[in-house]
Amino acid sequence: MLRTHTCGELRPSHLDETVTLCGWVDRVRDHKGVIFIDLRDRWGKTQVVIGPDASTNVMESARAARSEWVLSATGRVGRRPEGTTNPKLVTGEIEVVCSNLEILNEADTPVFQPGSMELPGEEVRLKNRWLDLRRTDMQNNLFLRSRIVKIMRDHFDELGFIDVETPMLGRSTPEGARDYLVPSRLEHGAFFALPQSPQLYKQLLMIAGLDRYVQVAKCFRDEDLRADRQPEFTQLDVEMSFVDAHDVTGVIESLVVKTAKDILDLDISLPLPQVTWTECMERYGHDAPDMRFGLEIVDLTEVTKNSDFRVFKSAVESGGRVRGILVSGAAEKFSRKDLDGLTAMAVEAGAKGLVWLKLDSSGSWTGPVAKNLGSDVAENIRQSLSAKPGDLALISADSFDVTCKTLHALRKYLGKELELYDENTMHVSWVIDFPMFARDEETGNWAAMHHPFTAPHPEDVEKLTSNPAECRAIAYDLVINGSEAGGGTIRIHDQATQQKVFELLGISPEIAQERFGFLLDALASGAPPHGGIALGIDRWVMLFGHLNSIRDVIAFPKTQRASDLMTGAPGLVDTKQLGELGIRTVIPPKPAADTSTQGK
Ligand code: AMO
Ligand code: AMP
Repeated sequence: MLRTHTCGELRPSHLDETVTLCGWVDRVRDHKGVIFIDLRDRWGKTQVVIGPDASTNVMESARAARSEWVLSATGRVGRRPEGTTNPKLVTGEIEVVCSNLEILNEADTPVFQPGSMELPGEEVRLKNRWLDLRRTDMQNNLFLRSRIVKIMRDHFDELGFIDVETPMLGRSTPEGARDYLVPSRLEHGAFFALPQSPQLYKQLLMIAGLDRYVQVAKCFRDEDLRADRQPEFTQLDVEMSFVDAHDVTGVIESLVVKTAKDILDLDISLPLPQVTWTECMERYGHDAPDMRFGLEIVDLTEVTKNSDFRVFKSAVESGGRVRGILVSGAAEKFSRKDLDGLTAMAVEAGAKGLVWLKLDSSGSWTGPVAKNLGSDVAENIRQSLSAKPGDLALISADSFDVTCKTLHALRKYLGKELELYDENTMHVSWVIDFPMFARDEETGNWAAMHHPFTAPHPEDVEKLTSNPAECRAIAYDLVINGSEAGGGTIRIHDQATQQKVFELLGISPEIAQERFGFLLDALASGAPPHGGIALGIDRWVMLFGHLNSIRDVIAFPKTQRASDLMTGAPGLVDTKQLGELGIRTVIPPKPAADTSTQGK
């Protein structure tokens, strides 16, 4: 070993021992001929003192040392003189009085100082990720990730789950995103798809009789990225045989309790609340709402149906809804300019506008459209919202979908802006009973809401034929603080139902056979009832670390444009390599500077 201790290890109990530390120069200070070097490694920082008694060699090395140089310092552990201890450092009571200083490696002047509180822009951090990862915050995030994954692995190990690796090179697994494709050299024109999830493999493991499977699985999805999405991310992937939804959610609930206790010393009580998808959309306008605060949506369609106000009337006439939220006591807080801002937010979410109303001290609504409501409707709205003087009402009139998107965006913004929740609390719940299908916005065809292997609710099996829109799935999403932290379903385990669902999704029997023949054959070979779930590990670390960006919990993340600024991936390849793959590019790609790191 080049060192006897780490830079975070020494305490007064080590006084007078001779030690050797290795690490990076965090800071050098020269105080009238006495040089102080803060030496840093993964474990902490220790002050090394090079005093007047040091040899000329040691003094010269110390003078030469610059930020981020790698040093080895040997010396005696001394107590820091009174008044110079640093209570912020665990090693703050001692220092190493240096007798030998070796320069293990010099460093170019760093693009930024990992030890400094000042952070450069994210593109600089991503480009120089090795420097960024020297920062204590980033190292703490990676430790947190490692701890959470260990809690997960231990949990499933104790419950008798077997960890099985599944292929990266496979066939497309439909999870709703675009695939990343890998061309085959031996079969020109054929492609592997990187897994969007190990969905079909884990089902096949159940059919194979493995009973309880778990894997920390890399998933790849070529989709539009956001602050909580990466093209390459990690799931804690789980599948179980002979279970119902309750069994699967139960296994996850105890994991939530353990993780919250271990990481945040937070007690989560069980069972976790369950909200149906329909109720969720009605109350919050979203399937992964932030339930740490109220601001629940109130339906006003019925009470405004006699209104002559054009905005309400046209929404209702075209089959839409009038819905609103009441922001208690907020009338004074929101200026005209603030309300224009909220209206812009509503428009951004897809609305044509936003009705805002303030209830004045006499109990009358004020606002640009207050006069258009008619007195009965105004009173109905007041009663439905239980509004009191000083309250602000925000109303959206549009298709159900647009009112959901609009009011969800407003809720999300207002919850944070008005500090309606404690950042340190955690609201964990299940959203259940999702619809099996939703209409694809582009094609108008049915698309699977979760994935095509999801079992219909036993009460709704008939509706697969009669009314697919109303058919519910046995699906459950884990929602933590307004973020989808996991999702799973009970699966179809008989061939006929699977074929029926493929058919509904517009997958012809021939295509089903070609793409999923192995699954259909396996289902016909004695498939046990089974189900599972996948947790988004990156999101868990973000949530349990109270962090805002998924990129801060991934060692080497991609930008919003799915590129790696450090390695320059994706990069161009030479024509010989393409030739071997039987590929010719039609449009020569332009290597563009990518600075798209801002989260939405
Ligand atoms: P689903 O698609 O819901 O389910 O994914 C499971 C969880 O993975 C996380 N997640 C992501 N995290 C970061 N970046 C992304 N691009 C991303 N996409 C998803 C979310 C999500 O809840 N095979 C099914 C699971 C099953 O049915 O068992 C699946 O992948 O936290
Ligand atoms: P307009 O007549 O279009 O200027 O709209 C009158 C008021 O109603 C404005 O304050 C708009 O912001 C608002 N508004 C317009 N369309 C909608 C809608 N679909 N839902 C809620 N408010 C709307």
